[in-house]
Amino acid sequence: MNTTEVLAARGVDLSYGSTPAVRDAHLSLAPGEVTAITGASGSGKSSLLYCLAGVLPPARGEVWFEGRPFSTLDDEEISTLRRERFGFVFQYGELLPELTVEENTALPLRLAGRRKAPALKAAAEVLDRLGIADLRERRPSQISGGQSQRVAVARALVHRPSVVFADEPTGSLDSANAGAVLEEFLSLARSQGTAVLLVTHDAGVAARADHHWTMADGVLSATGAAA
Ligand SMILES: Nc1ncnc2c1ncn2[C@@H]1O[C@H](COP(=O)(O)OP(=O)(O)O)[C@@H](O)[C@H]1O
Ligand SMILES: [Mg+2]
Repeated sequence: MNTTEVLAARGVDLSYGSTPAVRDAHLSLAPGEVTAITGASGSGKSSLLYCLAGVLPPARGEVWFEGRPFSTLDDEEISTLRRERFGFVFQYGELLPELTVEENTALPLRLAGRRKAPALKAAAEVLDRLGIADLRERRPSQISGGQSQRVAVARALVHRPSVVFADEPTGSLDSANAGAVLEEFLSLARSQGTAVLLVTHDAGVAARADHHWTMADGVLSATGAAA
């Protein structure tokens, strides 16, 4: 087990009004390792992910990034962290329709202030690693669902983030496509040393992770490491 810790939740509680969503969550992510969280719909998986990503502040407890508690950072520092050190993949990819595949992929680098030419070059390299370099000039409306999710993966990893948050990243794909995209995603993340938090309701997907947790009614429990 990797003893380095990049991101950790300690005693995190989150509620929406009087609805508790996360209760006393303790979780730690290590570089290059994949941590999966499974659980029924409504069990609190996305809510915990939002806390860990600094999107929603916990009502109790603390989230730590590289040894610094989020509560000591101001909003701008947290936004910068989210933009530059984190990557995100969602169920439907959420690509920008007016940008090409290559421009969509380069977005995190452009937002971090990288000039256009090197940003597009880095984007092309990641697209190539995911086997979709030939789609560079297309728009999201001109590619398939599986290809869109690969682009979303490319965009989440292009700036070599420390942590990637993936909320049902292959949930919109059929199982053959989902398996292939996931395989490529996890292998690229691991090779970059990126920690992955993978939220899924699919136990088969979770079986490919280094660590597997289950969530039920806001409570996270360890299910042990996958084989
Ligand atoms: N924006 C919100 N406002 C109010 N309640 C919410 C909101 N988002 C989620 N919830 C509630 O919080 C609980 C956990 O939801 P969520 O984190 O989305 O679960 P999951 O991702 O496991 O499906 C559920 O009871 C859900 O209805
Ligand atoms: Mg969810």
